Amino acid sequence: MKLKRVAVTVILVVMGTTTVLSQECLSDSLRINCYLWEGATQELCEAKGCTWCPSSMDELAPSCYLPPNYGYNIDGPISEIPEGGYRINLKRSPASNISYVGADSEEISTFFYFDSDERLRIKITDNTDRFEVPLEIKPPANPGGENPQYRIEFTNNPVFSFKVIRVSSGAAVFDTSLGGLTFANQFIQIVNKVPSTNGYGIGENEQLSYRHDFSKWQVFPIYTKDDAPLGNKNVYGAHPTYTMVEPDGSTHTILFLNSNAQEFLLTPAPSYTYRTTGGLLDIYIFMGPTPEEAVGQYHQAVGPQPIPAYWSLGFNLCRWNYNSIGNMNATIERTREAGIPQDVQFGDLDIMFDWLTFTYDSNATYNNFSGLPEFIRELKTRGIHFIQSVNAQISSEERRLPWYEPLRLGHEMDVWVKRPNGTPSTGTLWPGGEHEGWDKPAGPGFGGPVHFTDFSRPSAIEWWRIICAQYRDVLDWDGLWLDMNEPASWVSGDVVGCADNLINHPPYTPGITNNISDLTICPDHVQDYGILYNTHSLYGWSQARGSFEAIKPLFGTNRTFQLSRSTFPGSGQWAAHWLGDNFSTWGNLASSLIGIMGFNLFGTPQSGVDICGFYGRPSEELCTRWLQVGAFYPYSRNHNVRSTSEFDQDPASWSEASRNSTREALMIRYTILPYMYNLFYIHRVRGGTVMRALWAEFPGDQVALGVDTQFLIGPAFLVSPVLTEGATEVEAYFPEGSRWFAYRNGAEIEEAGSVILTAPFGVINLHVRGGYILPTQEPALNTMLSRQNAFGLIVALDGSYAARGEMYWDDGVTHAEVQDEGVYFRSTLLYIDGNLTQTVVNDAYQGISGLEMDSIRLFGAPSIISTILLNGEEHTDFEIHLPGNELRVHNLNIPVNSNYMITFLP
Ligand SMILES: *[C@@H]1O[C@H](CO)[C@@H](O)[C@H](O)[C@H]1NC(C)=O
Ligand SMILES: *[C@@H]1O[C@H](CO)[C@@H](O)[C@H](O)[C@H]1NC(C)=O
Ligand SMILES: *[C@@H]1O[C@H](CO)[C@@H](O)[C@H](O)[C@H]1NC(C)=O
Ligand SMILES: *[C@@H]1O[C@H](CO)[C@@H](O)[C@H](O)[C@H]1NC(C)=O
Ligand SMILES: *[C@@H]1O[C@H](CO)[C@@H](O)[C@H](O)[C@H]1NC(C)=O
Ligand SMILES: *[C@@H]1O[C@H](CO)[C@@H](O)[C@H](O)[C@H]1NC(C)=O
Ligand SMILES: *[C@@H]1O[C@H](CO)[C@@H](O)[C@H](O)[C@H]1NC(C)=O
Ligand SMILES: *[C@@H]1O[C@H](CO)[C@@H](O)[C@H](O)[C@H]1NC(C)=O
Repeated sequence: MKLKRVAVTVILVVMGTTTVLSQECLSDSLRINCYLWEGATQELCEAKGCTWCPSSMDELAPSCYLPPNYGYNIDGPISEIPEGGYRINLKRSPASNISYVGADSEEISTFFYFDSDERLRIKITDNTDRFEVPLEIKPPANPGGENPQYRIEFTNNPVFSFKVIRVSSGAAVFDTSLGGLTFANQFIQIVNKVPSTNGYGIGENEQLSYRHDFSKWQVFPIYTKDDAPLGNKNVYGAHPTYTMVEPDGSTHTILFLNSNAQEFLLTPAPSYTYRTTGGLLDIYIFMGPTPEEAVGQYHQAVGPQPIPAYWSLGFNLCRWNYNSIGNMNATIERTREAGIPQDVQFGDLDIMFDWLTFTYDSNATYNNFSGLPEFIRELKTRGIHFIQSVNAQISSEERRLPWYEPLRLGHEMDVWVKRPNGTPSTGTLWPGGEHEGWDKPAGPGFGGPVHFTDFSRPSAIEWWRIICAQYRDVLDWDGLWLDMNEPASWVSGDVVGCADNLINHPPYTPGITNNISDLTICPDHVQDYGILYNTHSLYGWSQARGSFEAIKPLFGTNRTFQLSRSTFPGSGQWAAHWLGDNFSTWGNLASSLIGIMGFNLFGTPQSGVDICGFYGRPSEELCTRWLQVGAFYPYSRNHNVRSTSEFDQDPASWSEASRNSTREALMIRYTILPYMYNLFYIHRVRGGTVMRALWAEFPGDQVALGVDTQFLIGPAFLVSPVLTEGATEVEAYFPEGSRWFAYRNGAEIEEAGSVILTAPFGVINLHVRGGYILPTQEPALNTMLSRQNAFGLIVALDGSYAARGEMYWDDGVTHAEVQDEGVYFRSTLLYIDGNLTQTVVNDAYQGISGLEMDSIRLFGAPSIISTILLNGEEHTDFEIHLPGNELRVHNLNIPVNSNYMITFLP
């Protein structure tokens, strides 16, 4: 038994955190709602035993709130637990006789597990057999530890509460002293008074500012749902996690590992009131202390994303309703002719027969995609990969049985989600009507019957492997697009409805859209690992995991690619993400930055949104601006809805001026792709983001904490896009303490702070941060071609004329297990005192030999360079560009995997 030395203080005096305004009334901001439904009155409130007092200043504050003696008391001695930590048994306080929804647990336990110096786990349970999320939390990088960043204080007066305190600053990162702890069968609540209002994350929903606003009693509901991101609704994924920057700039991340319908209420205390309708409280606190460390510790715990296939980081083209192979081909052709790169082509529903997943329309009646298998093979020879959409919902119509193998074999292998009586759950989705006349909008009552694959059954994984292998024999796809996996259905519950019971109609429903069976399976239906009531929000997560396992053998040692709409913590291990059915609006362009930065916190750095918007028709200006920004999304895909009034929004469909702009932006993406790829490598080995907000690098900068209209790729590449109609300039913020250089010409930002930058139609502002070296590569029309080109470096010097960087390179296709054997190239780069050196750290990837490091762009040298020495020999091929005295060195011809030194002399 090993006990860690974590300081624990028991304070048995009143902590005095509750400010009492008058004799009776608690200050508005500190109230915890006692009556969760609409229409609270004094009578209803007091009948429940709650305190009634109309709010004094804040109209949104509850008038009916919990009295201070509500909660649990410590029951018996505090015991040490073998894993290291403490167990505290609690009993419902006799003084509190309030029940939110009934069925409160009289006795519960709180466990503090001291996982490591950086990581604390707090589990609160009633010690009965309750649902626990089957996500394997990885052991901490440094288990044990002797110098925890946290200590714990608790009190029992008048009820039990605890604080998790950061040792270095005294800030309470978790503080339950406001009260409100509730543990009932279908309602669990914990109120966390937080140390600042700089909170970020919690999803999935559309947030209009990245930093949370605690002033409005706003609710972030969480329950996976097929719903367009329109404001603060629960949509496709479930991410009960946030990252908070404390007053001194230290940062922590907290996960509430729970998959039930749940919500976070943001109150002005400031607090996050967390409520869930089942499972238990299993809270992980990651202490950082830097933002990237806090987020990285979270990523390591839930499982980071593997290094993506290099080609998937190129530009992806998709649309619903090419309607024929001719249209698909024409789009690819015009993209190439416009000099716009493309790495991936998608197939959507229109390539299918009758919208049946795992088919393509080879049917002689329609014949619009005949030749697709040959076409896909031909695209591959040109370096364009193919991804196909598939659904977990399988048409269950009898008439398909004779030939529709996914259904026949699915019955045989018993792969479906079940009703309580053991028959397959049945909803409706795409296939089912006749092929003609599809102009009816999708919606309830439309579509044919489907069964839902239960990815928690081993037989379903095996079945998926078989039908995927069969499908790949027909269409040689390189990855799968897992759509509709919330799981979506166009009837609520089941074609025969849902039973009337407390599972399907829980006593309290969080602020989600409609109810927990709305346009999805009944909550009392069953998967191998539990009832949908508990597992619903894990559906897309389980599909990504199961499908990954199933298709992996089809690709030998190659990486594959999955793109999943529904996600949960840990999903990044198996799938990238796009943020669903957005709109072609300027507002959605702006919120895309917030959404993608959020998913970088959540552990899926390879995220993006449909560039130019899915629904609606973008103007050329909007689409061009969006393509400029989208060129720097970690995952870059243009996609468009099927629509009755046909229109295209692929980059080559616009004017020459627009095409020029897109070409330039995407060529810059391809140029800096080695830099971005290294960030994905770092994410894999120690967690952390690829796309991040300024505060992730400057957490002590009060302005940076609120900036969400710019973003960084890694620590050093700043994007300041135009996000509003008609704008030809943009106000950008440049934090003090760093030098910033324009990407295109090396011109330095003269004074830190807010700067107005010109941004004509074709231009997106890009800056490189001093102190960093970025590996680059000559771009081309796709990564198969660009990977054969010469490398380069951008060296941007900091205030002491130094810079550092690193490079990771591999074959771009072999998956992680093989990489772990070390078949990659890795080097560190350092510029100091006029000397640039590369030190090779690992040189085991043979494919790198023959490639050259050819050019350097040096920003911010202290004086004009007159002589350059390459490994001691003079190198004369260089030039100086104004403004900014950018130095460009050409034709270095150094083997990229060699140790070299380049000296820059005045
Ligand atoms: C507690 O509440 C129950 C049910 O509302 C009621 O019957 C009981 O009298 C109450 N007890 C106290 C001590 O208020
Ligand atoms: C097939 O392609 C033709 C020509 O592009 C088009 O008119 C027709 O609508 C397509 N049919 C379907 C079912 O998509
Ligand atoms: C695609 O278009 C090119 C150029 O028009 C043509 O040569 C080729 O045959 C087309 N391929 C298909 C499959 O339609
Ligand atoms: C094509 O599909 C239609 C509609 O389901 C069907 O009537 C027809 O027999 C099919 N043709 C072939 C060649 O499979
Ligand atoms: C859930 O909401 C939908 C849409 O309002 C409704 O059709 C359905 O009957 C509701 N289901 C339950 C179980 O309340
Ligand atoms: C793996 O990828 C390489 C390079 O793209 C390709 O040539 C090879 O056919 C792939 N192997 C499999 C099994 O898919
Ligand atoms: C597009 O770029 C080309 C090549 O640089 C240039 O000649 C042309 O004038 C540009 N067109 C527009 C409309 O900007
Ligand atoms: C830089 O290079 C020069 C010339 O090769 C050498 O004399 C000097 O010691 C180097 N400085 C550092 C800091 O490595």
